Amino acid sequence: MSSKTLSVVGVQWGDEGKGKIVHLLSRKAGWIVRYQGGNNAGHTVVFGGKKYALHLAPSGILVPGKRAVIGNGVVVDPKALREEVRMLVRRGVSVKGRLFVSELAHVILPYHILLDTLREEGGRGIGTTRRGIGPCYEDKVARLGIRVVDFLEPATFRKLVDKNLKVREAELSRARPIKKIREEVFRDYETLRRFLKPYVADTAGMLAAALERGEKVLFEGGQGAMLDLDFGTYPFVTSSNTIAGGVAAGAGVGVRHLDGVLGITKAYTTRVGRGPFPTEQFGTVGDYIRTEGREYGTTTGRPRRVGWLDLVQLRSALQVSGATQIAITKLDTLSRVHPLKVCTAYKLGRQKLTRYPASRSLIYDAEPLYESFPGFSGDLSQCRKFSELPKGARDYVLWIEKRLGVPVSIVSVGQSREQTIVRDPRAVWM
Ligand code: GDP
Ligand code: IMO
Ligand code: MG
Repeated sequence: MSSKTLSVVGVQWGDEGKGKIVHLLSRKAGWIVRYQGGNNAGHTVVFGGKKYALHLAPSGILVPGKRAVIGNGVVVDPKALREEVRMLVRRGVSVKGRLFVSELAHVILPYHILLDTLREEGGRGIGTTRRGIGPCYEDKVARLGIRVVDFLEPATFRKLVDKNLKVREAELSRARPIKKIREEVFRDYETLRRFLKPYVADTAGMLAAALERGEKVLFEGGQGAMLDLDFGTYPFVTSSNTIAGGVAAGAGVGVRHLDGVLGITKAYTTRVGRGPFPTEQFGTVGDYIRTEGREYGTTTGRPRRVGWLDLVQLRSALQVSGATQIAITKLDTLSRVHPLKVCTAYKLGRQKLTRYPASRSLIYDAEPLYESFPGFSGDLSQCRKFSELPKGARDYVLWIEKRLGVPVSIVSVGQSREQTIVRDPRAVWM
């Protein structure tokens, strides 16, 4: 029996190519669902010669007829959502009747963005996207949060905003008078409320009914396992559970419905923002891959830090996500890099580590141990079958597969949908 649900999650530090893969697989799904994060995500989708950058809407919104859900675990900036919907409509993508926002999702307001920015600029920064993600999740956990359903009720909303501004007054008033901040919140409120209302729904109920009818549901992760609040490189993480385990809570889908988990990794590693990155490359190799792979953030435009593939990091990430299969993206980018290196363990004093350490200090002393490969050259972007890849590229993938012990069902060799090699069509609904 083929699976009814598939969770697509990043297993590095984000930007693995989740958007591209989710868009490709969306053709066979009925529903595509975001379950955590917010518009800190930047998912690029390229098809038919056009490029789309999505931040809040699931990538499946670009496939006609599919239903897209922003689940309860997502933090929603109504203004950012309006911009994204406008962009989609302008580009001919109709969202009416197929984009749904959970009434239980929490809303990001201007003061969350201000707090995020103040901290980034005040020496407490970890290199966030400054979208207000952390402060909004803080309010949620502190039971001060404002949910979409509260946002829709003007009296409730007003009361909650006033309460929250009072709680945050000491920190916020360092930036500007609370009165001004309050004005910012209400300046656009009524139009945003009217904009948001038609999309709001009991999305958990809708998904339960869809699964009951036998429709397929695809879950689209934001960020990646190493940015997970529990399992990532704390405190240099995002404020949600990015791993597949986040799906049940973030979409309101019972765990018994969760089947396959597709972990996405690049053929090398990137990271934006601060924090440990054991296999980071600073010299010409790093620069070459950054240029070839166009490694600049989709959301903030920041240059991404670049390094070799890291099996220690990946093993931990695949394990906590319960990945049943892997997609390797951007293999084409590594063409002409000789030799290629992959980290197989960390050396720490006389110890050899094969698990990512929890200690926030020890990780900086961990020295990666590498295995080298001769690499490959040529244009991979035209390959459509695994057998068409240069031998060096096939060897690289097969070796990774063996060492990780998880099947590689997809190899991606370019930005666009067509530039994909599907090795195991059944596993990914193809
Ligand atoms: P996401 O956040 O995981 O969806 O990834 P991003 O969209 O932020 O970053 C991945 C970038 O790599 C995007 O520009 C994609 O279009 C691009 N991309 C995805 N897969 C491939 C691939 O196989 N080869 C190349 N050259 N680019 C790819
Ligand atoms: P996608 O979905 C890469 C990083 C930020 C920062 C940390 C915390 O496109 O893979 P936040 O704004 O979330 O509080 O920032 O997480 N970060 C991402 N890095 N891809 C992303 O999303 C990211 N979303 C957040 O750079 O280090
Ligand atoms: Mg991204």
